[in-house]
Amino acid sequence: MLDLSGKVAVVTGAGSGIGRGISLALAAAGARIFASDLLLERAEETARLVREAGGEGIPQQIDVTDPDAVQGMAEAASHEFGRLDICVANAGLFRNSSILSMPLEDWNQLMAVNVTGVFLTVQACAREMIRHGNGGRVITLSSVAGERANRGGFAYSGSKAAVRMMTRCWAQDLAAFDITVNSIAPGLIDTPMGDYIWGHVKPETAAAVPANRLGIPEDIGKLACWLASDEADYITGTYNVMDGGYLDRPFDRSGLDAERALNTGLSGDELLAALDGAGQDGFSAGVTRRAELELG
Ligand SMILES: NC(=O)c1ccc[n+]([C@@H]2O[C@H](COP(=O)([O-])OP(=O)(O)OC[C@H]3O[C@@H](n4cnc5c(N)ncnc54)[C@H](O)[C@@H]3O)[C@@H](O)[C@H]2O)c1
Repeated sequence: MLDLSGKVAVVTGAGSGIGRGISLALAAAGARIFASDLLLERAEETARLVREAGGEGIPQQIDVTDPDAVQGMAEAASHEFGRLDICVANAGLFRNSSILSMPLEDWNQLMAVNVTGVFLTVQACAREMIRHGNGGRVITLSSVAGERANRGGFAYSGSKAAVRMMTRCWAQDLAAFDITVNSIAPGLIDTPMGDYIWGHVKPETAAAVPANRLGIPEDIGKLACWLASDEADYITGTYNVMDGGYLDRPFDRSGLDAERALNTGLSGDELLAALDGAGQDGFSAGVTRRAELELG
């Protein structure tokens, strides 16, 4: 069992799925948890679960796109517990839309949370870690989507590729302060976000994973614990895929074929009208949904 006793961890997006799984795993290893989320009741639920399991958990409502709120989160955690050792920049959103139909508003929101929110979180936490002088561990959540191109995935995949490269650069920036920075790249993890994206085809989706099951937040929690532990003190700037082999799955051409079928016998204007008609529900005549995370 890894020992994180005495350590203090900030986890963003801690109120659901992977963030909750990581919070509970870190707490089980002895870390005290500052559980933050956009939705207070979700953060409170995670903090309650941590305490029920015998740990220390404090909830906080913050929006990771708000610089002052993120700064307040890092300061509050380090003042409350007297130190800050672990930062898990987990909060993220999913949007799926073709380059032909992505609304600017969706793009801006996705980048604000998935890229700017991660930057603000890591900056504020790293500065608190340096203030306390104990080194630290930063963990970011990228995705296998940041490595493999998906139709309709340019914005989400682009944001996760950015997280991957920012992580490597931050490892260089923070090495002199004994702060390691590593990324976890999950595959298909069974969470509310996953449910929203492929919940309607869950058994087929699980069957497409070479390990023959979806991942669960506890899987990611184990890896986060290891990366946060003394065992991982010589690993930094890395990208850790945890996906049951999903990244190397065969190409699925079903959506592409539907789109090609649409692109026969229509004029250019008719084709664009058909795509716009699929519009907010996705491109490919509805083959790909515009998945939108429901925030409460
Ligand atoms: N589930 C998967 O299959 C999967 C795969 C790869 C990567 N990821 C990444 O893992 C992370 C967690 O995903 P999940 O599946 O647990 O998602 P989730 O939707 O279940 O949970 C995300 C949490 O983040 C919070 N959040 C959203 N916007 C926020 C904001 N502006 N400020 C603060 N909190 C905010 C939400 O309230 C929610 O509690 C995300 O970064 C996601 O992109 C997930």
